[in-house]
Amino acid sequence: MRVSIVGTGHVGLVTAASLAHLGHEVLGVDDDAEKVATIARGETPFHEPGLQELLREGLDAGRLRVSPDVPEAARFGEVVFICVGTPTKPTGEANLVQVERVSTVIARALEGYTVIAEKSTVPVETGVWVRRTIELTAAPDAEFDVASNPEFLREGRAVHDTLNPDRIVVGTSSARAMERLRELYAPILDRTGCPFVVTDLATAELIKHASNAFLATKVSFINAIADICERTGADVHEVARAMGLDPRIGPAFLGAGIGYGGACLPKDVAAFRHKADELGVGFPLLEEVERVNMARRERFIEKIRSAVWNLEGKRIAMWGLAFKPDTDDLRNAPAIEIARRLSEEGADVVAYDPVAMPASKPLLFAATFAPTALEAAQGADCLAICTEWEEFRGVDLERLRDAMARPAIVDGRNMFDPPAMADAGFTYASMGRPTAAPAPGP
Ligand SMILES: NC(=O)c1ccc[n+]([C@@H]2O[C@H](COP(=O)([O-])OP(=O)(O)OC[C@H]3O[C@@H](n4cnc5c(N)ncnc54)[C@H](O)[C@@H]3O)[C@@H](O)[C@H]2O)c1
Repeated sequence: MRVSIVGTGHVGLVTAASLAHLGHEVLGVDDDAEKVATIARGETPFHEPGLQELLREGLDAGRLRVSPDVPEAARFGEVVFICVGTPTKPTGEANLVQVERVSTVIARALEGYTVIAEKSTVPVETGVWVRRTIELTAAPDAEFDVASNPEFLREGRAVHDTLNPDRIVVGTSSARAMERLRELYAPILDRTGCPFVVTDLATAELIKHASNAFLATKVSFINAIADICERTGADVHEVARAMGLDPRIGPAFLGAGIGYGGACLPKDVAAFRHKADELGVGFPLLEEVERVNMARRERFIEKIRSAVWNLEGKRIAMWGLAFKPDTDDLRNAPAIEIARRLSEEGADVVAYDPVAMPASKPLLFAATFAPTALEAAQGADCLAICTEWEEFRGVDLERLRDAMARPAIVDGRNMFDPPAMADAGFTYASMGRPTAAPAPGP
């Protein structure tokens, strides 16, 4: 099938490369000409495991092309995916200007029956606006349907998730559009047997916001439990583990820490809450989810203060800048705000991240960067762990302790076992678990 992808960012480029891998003819368009040129050279503009290989495979096979010519997407694709950004306005509302612009440009260039599928995360009822915009702009005889096909990929596992989804959701009132999208996804459906969930447009849009709001709620829920654990000496890790053994609850997204970040959860929770207010039903539960989440950063900074007393003049090593491992995405990354706050309070922040340092440098003028985790820790008064990169787990604890000026760790991701860290000579504070310290000498 001929497929167009408008917006070759984290979602669009992974979708484009994956659909080309499945044998479709794919055109990716983006109004960022520099990004298009990078992709055309076979380079990915961001870090995503496995994407570079898939991109090169598609380009070499001639099944994937990229272009800055957005109208070409409408002329080429039997299905046109909208994958542009839907950022947050200061009010929390989703900014849908990019979606509107793309809808207008596509409408003017439509040729033959086309399915226009929203893959961007949008508030419920956006599809109605997309359809109306296209109807008002397109030629009177233009044949098209609008569908919602929300994306559930996780950055860092995006290629795997796209080729092995838990479910594919398609929302449309048109049987013709639904059949076309089923045919598009047939190679995945046949191989994986994953559910193909067909709904109306509004329901599909809601499924995405409801899913992300629920995940954020799980994270804030366990973080609220973490605060209670800290007051009572209980261990949130054990609480979460035992809760997660209940199949009605499940273990995922029950890791206490410095809270959720990234390009999706904060933005989608805010947009969903705003939409619920606009609809007159409200969703105060989500306000509390956001409040708990933002309070995590403050709590983490307090723990660093308790480890070093005054921040001014202290050297703080920071491990991890990306909002989660296996990505260099810094959008709404807790570590960036935390590093800025520490610098503002006079600390000397020395940061290390396996892949996110180039993207961090323009955001953190006051920080310095070290080429390895151990070098970041050299002479540090405290080590603050902000992202649970696998390489941190394997660090040589003896060398780490010897490198630091004071063996104090504040772990915002609960990566290590507290008694083992105390045995290794560290004062180790984590989130929702008792602080561990070496036994006093004889
Ligand atoms: N990143 C994720 O993990 C993820 C997961 C699921 C859903 N989503 C949703 O998918 C959408 C895209 O997210 P993303 O992370 O890929 O964003 P992104 O910023 O990485 O990519 C968006 C792309 O759209 C391009 N673009 C913007 N306006 C355009 C226009 N008028 N014409 C052509 N191209 C244009 C931008 O240049 C950019 O390359 C958002 O709605 C997001 O919420 C993201």
